[in-house]
Amino acid sequence: MMDNPSIVVVDDDPLHRTMVLRGIQSSGQPTRVGTSFDLFGVQSSTEKILFVCAAEAMIPDIASVVSGLSSLAPRVGVVIVANEADQNAASWLNAGVLDVIRRPFRAHELGLRVRNAARRQALECQWLTRQDALEALVAEQTEVIRSSREEVSLRLISASRFRDNETGAHVRRIGLYAAVIAEAFEWTLFDVEQIRLAAPMHDIGKVAIPDAVLKKPGALTPEEWSVMRLHTTAGEEILAGSSVPFLNMGARIARSHHEKFAGGGYPDGLIGEQIPLEARITAVVDVYDALRSRRPYKEPWVEADVLALLERERGRHFDPKVVDCFFAHLEAVRRVWDETPDEVLPV
Ligand SMILES: [Fe+2]
Ligand SMILES: [Fe+2]
Repeated sequence: MMDNPSIVVVDDDPLHRTMVLRGIQSSGQPTRVGTSFDLFGVQSSTEKILFVCAAEAMIPDIASVVSGLSSLAPRVGVVIVANEADQNAASWLNAGVLDVIRRPFRAHELGLRVRNAARRQALECQWLTRQDALEALVAEQTEVIRSSREEVSLRLISASRFRDNETGAHVRRIGLYAAVIAEAFEWTLFDVEQIRLAAPMHDIGKVAIPDAVLKKPGALTPEEWSVMRLHTTAGEEILAGSSVPFLNMGARIARSHHEKFAGGGYPDGLIGEQIPLEARITAVVDVYDALRSRRPYKEPWVEADVLALLERERGRHFDPKVVDCFFAHLEAVRRVWDETPDEVLPV
């Protein structure tokens, strides 16, 4: 069912007003009379009004008012009644005026043209309403997908925490720091979200490392280290080949988060930009957070010492571009540290 707009006739000349009203009424349209084109009265985007107004009535620049209306109050339509000699019709129509009716007009014809304009406006409003409903639905579905992806990531990580010393807060912070850096690198919102979910999974491959190595209290032998290093490729195996983008990014991070910018890391001994950027970012933020954290086997470092190490390893272990960006956004990084403390999210 189409819901017609209410029609407001705006003209300061009472005689003109009566003639226009009569014309509209002859076509059976309900009308009300206004004496000014009150923009503030139509700011509600839901009210559907068709103004039929005299070109010379109280509006200094109809074209800009009408084009402004289309964003301010898209459900408001305008029909202009103009003198025969008026030269502005094309610019008004171009700005979105529904129709321009010339004086002198026949009452009946004016009525029909106003009725047509009202129908067109009603159809456009119907389309707008559907569009709004569709957008709301898409937003709702997107949120469902986003939160279910986040849950998959968190549950995978929580599975790995049964075997690892890392706290839930540590892995969550890694995602948040990585997102700070990605945002500073002007990644798209989508990609920032991907790294926020993917970076926490960097050590997920530790589920594949035997307890004798993973939980060994003392230093590891060279053989044990070579087993420990397998957590990178094991993590990749767990996450790779998915159609879900953040799992694929997680796979790249899991494989390459122990690579070193100048070479000499594992498992592939990649150099510089051969290492995926998401892994170069994760390497910096993981070391920062791990060193600042208390672990069963170590005391927390003071932040100044951690920063000195990052600086020392700039260009060696770490990508200098990522380290510079990290320092440039240290305030946001510290906020993540402060706002997601270990105490709130215990192991
Ligand atoms: Fe690792
Ligand atoms: Fe970590």
